[in-house]
Amino acid sequence: MACRSPLFQSFIALLALVSSTLCSPWSVADACVTQSSPNPIAQQYPNLVSGTLNGTTLIVPIPLELARALIPEEYTILENAYRCLLPSFPTGMYPLMVTVAVDHDLQLPAYNVTVGDFSRSALEFPFLDILGNGYSNFRWAATMMITSTALAAITGSEGLGLAIYPSAFEPACDPYTPLPDGSTYMHSESITPSGADAKFMTVQTQASPEVVPYPLTFIRNVTNQPAFANTSACDNYIRLYNTTNSAAPHEPQPVAGTVVTNMDPLASNQTWTGVYGWNYATAFIEPPVPGNCAALANFIDS
Ligand SMILES: *[C@@H]1O[C@H](CO)[C@@H](O)[C@H](O)[C@H]1NC(C)=O
Ligand SMILES: *[C@@H]1O[C@H](CO)[C@@H](O)[C@H](O)[C@H]1NC(C)=O
Ligand SMILES: *[C@@H]1O[C@H](CO)[C@@H](O)[C@H](O)[C@H]1NC(C)=O
Ligand SMILES: *[C@@H]1O[C@H](CO)[C@@H](O)[C@H](O)[C@H]1NC(C)=O
Ligand SMILES: *[C@@H]1O[C@H](CO)[C@@H](O)[C@H](O)[C@H]1NC(C)=O
Ligand SMILES: *[C@@H]1O[C@H](CO)[C@@H](O)[C@H](O)[C@H]1NC(C)=O
Repeated sequence: MACRSPLFQSFIALLALVSSTLCSPWSVADACVTQSSPNPIAQQYPNLVSGTLNGTTLIVPIPLELARALIPEEYTILENAYRCLLPSFPTGMYPLMVTVAVDHDLQLPAYNVTVGDFSRSALEFPFLDILGNGYSNFRWAATMMITSTALAAITGSEGLGLAIYPSAFEPACDPYTPLPDGSTYMHSESITPSGADAKFMTVQTQASPEVVPYPLTFIRNVTNQPAFANTSACDNYIRLYNTTNSAAPHEPQPVAGTVVTNMDPLASNQTWTGVYGWNYATAFIEPPVPGNCAALANFIDS
């Protein structure tokens, strides 16, 4: 089966960002000093929400039976699609995504709207057929940790059907922090629920220039599949890999790492070691209102 060409890169949205309430109450986030670069494309796309998305994507091969148990049964796993992109991906496995990122310098110029920075972390499940056509790839992302003070981001995400854990992130304003040994570290933990019931994710990575099992073209594919929590709304969130955010001196860095988490839909603590991915930043654009999933698939598959 031939690989379908990714004519249009699209992924989902976590945010129904547009609301007149979004203009000011960001004193906590504003106190944060981030190292992320400014939104390079706001003026180019005045009618879209745009920003910088900076963080880590790790691919965790999990047994297909486990994936099948975690993913709602009505969504078919398109194994051919990922084997087509990654012929050597281990037999009997499925590529789960671990995503940690900071959304920085969000703007919607046509409406004179800006939104404060926030962090998020999640487990995401790409290559799902939600239309039953056997070839349109969607990504299921139904729960997420989001900075607890980012009320607009939380409300917007909940409006798309996501379950949100308001959370604290370390570091607070960047997607990861360098450790003395040259590795990078991030930790997020829910404020609600807290204590023994808290959700958490810890990600540590080291540079992996020699071993790169997932090329950036694969990362671009999975991050630009339309994501959904509830199939009644998909958001055409597009990461652009061709801006200054992804160019020298900010080239994407291949990494190897460890993930410890109990995030949904896991039932208990999991530790994944020796998993590979990238530390990288892109620009992104996103329509102010979420779209119809089938219409979006026709668009991206055309
Ligand atoms: C991802 O790759 C699959 C398989 O080739 C293709 O059908 C799909 O259109 C691609 N999606 C994106 C967003 O590039
Ligand atoms: C992304 O975040 C890292 C960690 O804070 C920072 O070093 C890097 O410069 C940022 N890149 C961009 C393009 O914002
Ligand atoms: C946009 O917002 C800024 C800051 O609140 C304000 O000074 C400016 O007048 C606004 N411009 C428009 C066109 O509404
Ligand atoms: C999905 O959204 C629709 C429309 O808002 C709602 O009726 C339905 O209950 C939601 N489904 C789930 C599983 O949350
Ligand atoms: C960057 O990529 C986007 C989407 O693929 C495309 O629409 C845009 O024209 C590209 N920009 C440049 C400067 O190449
Ligand atoms: C899960 O991991 C967290 C963080 O390391 C720890 O605090 C907690 O005790 C662990 N829970 C179980 C049931 O092992």
